[in-house]
Order: sequence, then structure tokens, then C-alpha cells
Amino acid sequence: MTRATQFKLGVLGSGKGSNFVAIADACAAGRVPATIELVLSDLPEAGILDRARERGIRAEHLAPGRYRTRLDEAAERAYVAGLQEAGVDLVVLAGFMRILKGDFLGAFPGRVVNIHPSLLPAFPGLEAWKQALDHGVKVTGVTVHLVDAGVDTGPILAQAPVLVRDDDTPETLHARIQEVEHRLYPATIARWLTDTFGACARGPNLEE
Ligand code: GAR
Repeated sequence: MTRATQFKLGVLGSGKGSNFVAIADACAAGRVPATIELVLSDLPEAGILDRARERGIRAEHLAPGRYRTRLDEAAERAYVAGLQEAGVDLVVLAGFMRILKGDFLGAFPGRVVNIHPSLLPAFPGLEAWKQALDHGVKVTGVTVHLVDAGVDTGPILAQAPVLVRDDDTPETLHARIQEVEHRLYPATIARWLTDTFGACARGPNLEE
């Protein structure tokens, strides 16, 4: 019997891991044709590591090195080595709050995706939901994009809107944005895997 092709994901995150959970659940339910092989975080206390471990998924803290906003050269090499050893087809940034530079991106050309809590190119950077409120926009949303060397730039794969309410606080707006993230990210990853690899077989998992 032919089983659906299973691809391998590596997930990077710095936060509580709700997008990781949505993706892991979608993989387990067969809505994303992939398994999560490895979760890496720059913060030892990040909730994403606990969420992964309680699902039996390998999860490690890898120190980011000497810079505040990005991985240093040695750290980038360690992240790349871990992800390559795990054989990942796609690197998924799920709330990873460090900029990735050319050496990392060169190791996974066109194979790093990110989710950002605004309709890019509006409000790149930190706390995009707060930027949206401060600016007074009436509609914001979610973007999934391929990562390039810029900050929240790179080709857009999918977007979805979220209406801003008059009584929104940063917390209520971010909560509604996250509900949309949890649907959009798994669906976009599934579509990207199918569009990119099509029906091509991936080694021993194809037949059983
Ligand atoms: C998400 O809202 C994601 O869009 C954002 O961090 C949050 C992580 O939440 N990412 C960025 O702002 C990247 N610029 P999570 O840990 O619950 O998935």
C-alpha cells in the first residue's frame, strides 16, 4: 500500500510554542505530510521546548552566541549542523526572534519559512500587533513568507486578514491574530511541501 510522502521539518522558536503545537497537531492528523524531527530554541526556558518534549519530539536549547538580535557565526554553524543531521526538508520559524544571516540561509536555500503577525510589508519587526494598534489601522493580519536576508522580507506565500476592534488591547488583538496563525501556518506549509516536491518520493517512507 502506498503511504503519503512524509517530509521532515525542523522548527525554531523562542516563545511559548503555540504555532509549533498547531503544526505538530496538523502533522499528527495527516493534514501536513511531514514529521517534526527537531525543535531548536535560543532560550533555554522557551515553552516551545516543553511543548515538543511532551510530544516526544527532540528539542534542544542552542546558545545564540554573542549578539543580541542574531545568531553569531559559531551558533549558526551549530544550528545548521543540527538541522542537517536531522535531514530536514524545510526549516520552520515559529516565533524565532533572531535574524538569520547568509550562511544559515545558504544551507537551506528557499527552504526557510516564517510567520509574522501583520500583513507584510506593514509592521515588520517586534510586536507587530502593537505597531498596528499604535498606527490605528482597521485591518491587520498574518503573513507566511520565505525567509531572505532582510527582516521580515522575502517572498510571501500566504496572508490572512484580522479586523482590529475599537476596544482591542495588544493582548486581545494578538490573541485573535494567533487564532488565524494556527490555521494559516499548517495549511501553508502543507501547500508549500506539495507545490515544491509535488509527487516526488522521499526515500524509504514512500512505500509500505
Ligand atoms: C507569533 O505570533 C509569531 O507570529 C511571532 O511570534 C509569535 C510566537 O508565538 N513572530 C514574530 O513576531 C516574528 N517577527 P508562539 O510561540 O505561540 O508560536
